Amino acid sequence: MALKRSFFSILFLSLHGLGRWANVCIALWPLDLNGNRVNQIDKLFDGISNQYDRFNHITSMGIDRSWRRQAVGSLPVCHDLLDVAVGTGDLTIEALRQQKVSRVVGIDISDGMMRVAKAKVEGLGLQDKVTLLHADCAQLPFADGSFDAITCGYGVRNFAQLDQSLAEMYRVLRPGGQLRILEFTYPTNPIIRFFYDFYLTKVMPIIGKKLTQQGDSFVYFMNSIKRFDKGKAFLSHLDKVGFADTRFKKQTFGISSLYIACKR
Ligand SMILES: C[S@@+](CC[C@H](N)C(=O)[O-])C[C@H]1O[C@@H](n2cnc3c(N)ncnc32)[C@H](O)[C@@H]1O
Repeated sequence: MALKRSFFSILFLSLHGLGRWANVCIALWPLDLNGNRVNQIDKLFDGISNQYDRFNHITSMGIDRSWRRQAVGSLPVCHDLLDVAVGTGDLTIEALRQQKVSRVVGIDISDGMMRVAKAKVEGLGLQDKVTLLHADCAQLPFADGSFDAITCGYGVRNFAQLDQSLAEMYRVLRPGGQLRILEFTYPTNPIIRFFYDFYLTKVMPIIGKKLTQQGDSFVYFMNSIKRFDKGKAFLSHLDKVGFADTRFKKQTFGISSLYIACKR
């Protein structure tokens, strides 16, 4: 009897472990393989949407707010902004708070994230200035040259079709329009890099799991930061699709970077 119980316990634990690792493997599937990836990404973000802001602010000790402030602060005052991968809406709200734009369209593939954005926008009485749409950045439902500026905060490393998505941003930006992309990078100083790596791979997944009960999603998030093209390598993607004056500024030891570009 005891032997039978142990057998079933071991079987259960093995299957549970396999399922868990299958989730992680799906999450680590290369970003640019095919469109199905989009479906897995939106589910990952739907699953953590209610705790996303709290996770961000706790793990970055609130510094993420200043990264977004800088990104928006570097934009000229204009009319129509497209906030790609709007998520829970922090960049959109920051752009309106700094009075850089009069109207924002935010797009995302995660309805869960946009539900949180909608509640925040309505809570601030900004609903007349913000439109939230379910759309994939690889196929933007807008005419050429529709926007004066485009922002994208911590979204590009999740895109299933990176170059196609950047080409779409280029298409819907008007000539003379500005692009600002925020993305996580890696500190270049080896000592800071060592501690950051430890924090990223060991501490952040634990905090993520405590907040959301979804540790596997955070394995994906941390690995996606490591794998993604950074600095000059990312600029070459922007150059390839036609953006001009491409450059980047490191933020807080290079943990995050602000990519700047325009359309001539
Ligand atoms: C890390 S969150 C960033 C949210 C927000 N921009 C911010 O600054 O916090 C990344 C967002 O990218 C969205 N995303 C991923 N792939 C996308 C795609 N192909 N098109 C549009 N949004 C996408 C996800 O659903 C998620 O909401």
